[in-house]
Amino acid sequence: MKAVAVFPETREIRLIEHPEPRIESPTEVKVRVLEVGVCGTDKEICAFHYGVPPRGQGHLVIGHEALGEVVEAGVGVRTLKKGDLVVMTVRRPCGQAGCESCKIGRQDFCFSGAFTERGIKERHGFMTEYVVDDERFMVAVPRHLRDVAILVEPLTIAEKALIQVWQVQQRLPWSCPHAPDHKPGVCHHAVVLGAGPVGLLGAMAFRAAGFTTYVYSREGPTSEKARLVESFGAVYVSSEETPVERLVDRVGTIDVVYEATGASRLSFEVLKQVGPNAAFVFTGVPGRRGSAEIDTDLLMRNMVLKNQVVFGTVNAGRDAFEAAVRDLGVFMERWPEATRKLLTGRYRVEDHREPLLSTAGIKAVIAFN
Ligand code: BGC
Repeated sequence: MKAVAVFPETREIRLIEHPEPRIESPTEVKVRVLEVGVCGTDKEICAFHYGVPPRGQGHLVIGHEALGEVVEAGVGVRTLKKGDLVVMTVRRPCGQAGCESCKIGRQDFCFSGAFTERGIKERHGFMTEYVVDDERFMVAVPRHLRDVAILVEPLTIAEKALIQVWQVQQRLPWSCPHAPDHKPGVCHHAVVLGAGPVGLLGAMAFRAAGFTTYVYSREGPTSEKARLVESFGAVYVSSEETPVERLVDRVGTIDVVYEATGASRLSFEVLKQVGPNAAFVFTGVPGRRGSAEIDTDLLMRNMVLKNQVVFGTVNAGRDAFEAAVRDLGVFMERWPEATRKLLTGRYRVEDHREPLLSTAGIKAVIAFN
């Protein structure tokens, strides 16, 4: 079967013939891949900055955002059946005796660092025709979400962040008891940094949870991105009009920041401005561009005197995948057009180079049917 692979040694990206996988244990499921999303991580792997082939192999089949259809289920499979639509989780457990997270299926919080990730780290990915994996690494998606379900995996990043924000903020009275529609975020201001797929999906998730949501990005105030953001009820703030040093003047009190840029200097500038009891969530993985000067006294004073929490988050567990499927359903009820607009390009697998090597558009998808 066809697969798209990178060869880090020779710095090649190409279509290869890959053996079709077979079910080998009772709880495995075979899936025909319908679509694979392309994200920043894939582009980094294709620029050979990231990505590790399975041990002993010279190539890595890429792709970790996948939507597929079950074609065969092992005899012990309980949760899925032939014909079901599924999205796949990315990380697989490290298997080390001392890792309590991996032991209970929370490899997104792996302690050892020896986890693997499909299409990223030491395990082949999903940019191929068929995939076999254990049912516990697959999450069912309702049919009516077929056309947008490829957005589930990138949305899980925000869902995991939100789950943690609610957990962390239980340290104080942070609910909004007077909210008219009982949305838990209604009395708070969230700032999303960046308007790529992770940022935009995050902004929709914050909106759906009721937050007054601002998206801060580079595109102009009348750009298509700005209109898209406004169409789902968030406020677009362009860096062309509002320099980052003045973001707080525009937003008012900043209660949560969801960082989705990978731009560390910008992020630390915003960190200086967050309000009392705020939570600041990092999701980006910056390249190492060298050190920058920051006012560490100011940051530390603020964090202490304003009870701020700063944390990073990576990957996602099953709970975040299930939340993403639910929220995507909400997005399609409330903002179907905006949700569909996130999908900006569809390519045949033969044309994989185009989306993998370009930075245009929001979410490009490689379709296998
Ligand atoms: C994926 C995550 C993964 C991370 C780091 C992201 O693009 O969505 O699942 O953990 O890259 O490899």
